[in-house]
Amino acid sequence: MSKLKKSDKFLKLVGKHQEAKKVDKFKGTLGDYLSLLEKDPGIPKLSHKRLYDTITSHGITRMSTSEDRCNKLFNGEEIRTYNYFQNQFFGMERSLAKIMRFLRSASLKGEESRQVLLLLGPVGAGKSALLERIKSALEDCEPMYHIEGCPVREEPLHLIPRSLRDEFQKIYGIKIEGDLCPVCRHNLKEKYDNDYMSVPITQSSFSVRGRRGVGVVPPMDANSQDVTILVGSEDISKLDLYSEDDPRVLSLNGAFNVGNRGIVEFVEVFKNEIEFLHTMITATQEKAVPSPGKGPMIYFDGVILAHCNEAEWNKFKSENTNEAILDRIVRVNVPYSLEYTEEQKIYEKLLGLSDFDGHIAPHTLEVASMFAVLSRLHPSNKVDPLTKMKIYNGKDVIEQGHVKKIDVNDLRDEARDEGMTGISTRFIMKAIDAAMSDSDKNMVTPISIREALIRQVKDQIVVEDDRNRYLDFLGKTLHEEYLNILEKEITKAFVSAYDEQAESLFNNYLDHAEAYVNMTTVKDGVTNEEIHPDEPFMASIEEQIGIVGTAKENFRVDITAYMFSKLRRGEKVDWKSYAPLREAIETKLTASVRDISRIVTKSKSRDKKQQVKYNEMVQTLIEEYGYNEESAEEVIKFASNNLWRDS
Ligand SMILES: Nc1ncnc2c1ncn2[C@@H]1O[C@H](COP(=O)(O)OP(=O)(O)OP(=O)(O)O)[C@@H](O)[C@H]1O
Ligand SMILES: [Mg+2]
Repeated sequence: MSKLKKSDKFLKLVGKHQEAKKVDKFKGTLGDYLSLLEKDPGIPKLSHKRLYDTITSHGITRMSTSEDRCNKLFNGEEIRTYNYFQNQFFGMERSLAKIMRFLRSASLKGEESRQVLLLLGPVGAGKSALLERIKSALEDCEPMYHIEGCPVREEPLHLIPRSLRDEFQKIYGIKIEGDLCPVCRHNLKEKYDNDYMSVPITQSSFSVRGRRGVGVVPPMDANSQDVTILVGSEDISKLDLYSEDDPRVLSLNGAFNVGNRGIVEFVEVFKNEIEFLHTMITATQEKAVPSPGKGPMIYFDGVILAHCNEAEWNKFKSENTNEAILDRIVRVNVPYSLEYTEEQKIYEKLLGLSDFDGHIAPHTLEVASMFAVLSRLHPSNKVDPLTKMKIYNGKDVIEQGHVKKIDVNDLRDEARDEGMTGISTRFIMKAIDAAMSDSDKNMVTPISIREALIRQVKDQIVVEDDRNRYLDFLGKTLHEEYLNILEKEITKAFVSAYDEQAESLFNNYLDHAEAYVNMTTVKDGVTNEEIHPDEPFMASIEEQIGIVGTAKENFRVDITAYMFSKLRRGEKVDWKSYAPLREAIETKLTASVRDISRIVTKSKSRDKKQQVKYNEMVQTLIEEYGYNEESAEEVIKFASNNLWRDS
């Protein structure tokens, strides 16, 4: 078969696309619509329910207590996560759960259905992205049925006269809310001679760009604020043809008209003048919006979503004349992520979406995300910032041979509203770009990102306190933390079969510790002799995490009990099972290669044999850890200058 030309290939796609779009659009009368309702009484749902159903139709997953994250960071609470937002939003589970709870209550016609949902968060926390995602949910839901030619695409059941609605509800089990818009009312009388059963009904899909079912209100300055943006206007050119109270002069193209049955979004809502917002309140309170000109109010059913940042919110809140509005708002905070591994996923997502094609060395985004999180944390009386950052990430922090007993909830209680300040995702993305364009090797490394961040902080952060704090994080805290990470990594690349060696140390240690605790002996692996627990061997591991003297005994008792209880529950144990011991083993292995690391990483002092060893290590870094030639060289040089300075 001959190869298709590009244009043919594309035309084929177009054909398929158009075919798929050609879903049979319903065309019929109100009578036909009623027959549809007999089969599916769920059709005339209100906007909140439609949105809720659409989002949840993608599936709900419950966080499981078998996940570490669930236990450590969510108190073992199996919170719901929504597949529709998965892989696009990270570390936002709590905000999403609140948003969905709002929609759920509103869909059950609770008080929430008469409230505005306000997303409040710092710049770049993902509010706009989240709203985009929510709005686009409507685009792939079932098209809505509406009266043909209705400017606000209203529910066909509005045609049923008030006097028949009780009976209708008894027969169909459907409660009708809302009345005809002025245009449909006019048409019913003039065009259809009040024969409502014959009024044509059709279907439309939702479209954000097509302004069908989604209305967006951008923030406006006082001068250009005009309610016509919200509720439409009177078409002056038509005033010659029709009288002023004739609905045919109306242009119902305001955000509330467009967003009827779907969503009306207020971007940076409190930048607007308060007068402008009254329509929003009316829409929630009365479920109706004013008609342009002098006509009666027009029924409105839609989800009203708004967002703004904290400064605007605080200003607005402080003015007591705004109470009526405040009472109508359900606020959901959208803070920055305080888990650096989740934060890192945001950068990965954004880089994936860009044209970025450079090399990103291992730990680059990790270091950047650690910085972002550190900048967002409030100081604690209980722990230092780095420790807090790790605890917030679900990590065990070891102190004197024990996992530090700090409850993440205590830390959170200590710092209400954390995550509403600090460095934004955008700030980090800019630094990544800057580091990239400064590199002549088309790469970013933890070293260059740190430098780029330092430059950017000096350049852009004007608040003295913040600036100093950030520079301290970058210059000290993260410098040291990265060196720790790097030393471990280089050790792993050095020690052949690292995991096996670690495992063997672990098994040995456990055998001896157990024998020590139970006052028994250990069988020597080689000679099969029964020997006494090897005190110097055990001490050589324990001292790595500062356990000396009488603390040794406790440590051995603890670890034996811990492992025994794990085994009894049928759980697997390995060298990573008990965080303090894992740390001790890693440190011991690191110490065991420190001398050779020092020599081999310095190009000057390498002899032939050492050169071979060096090459092997570089190869491992490249093949197993994701470096390339240049980034491996850069980090090794950094390690040799900073880690193993000849003392
Ligand atoms: N938690 C997150 N998960 C996934 N992506 C995120 C997250 N937070 C931010 N982003 C991404 O960061 C970028 C900036 O976010 P966005 O523009 O939505 O922020 P915003 O809260 O609207 O900020 P602003 O107040 O400045 O308008 C977006 O591309 C968004 O996808
Ligand atoms: Mg935004």
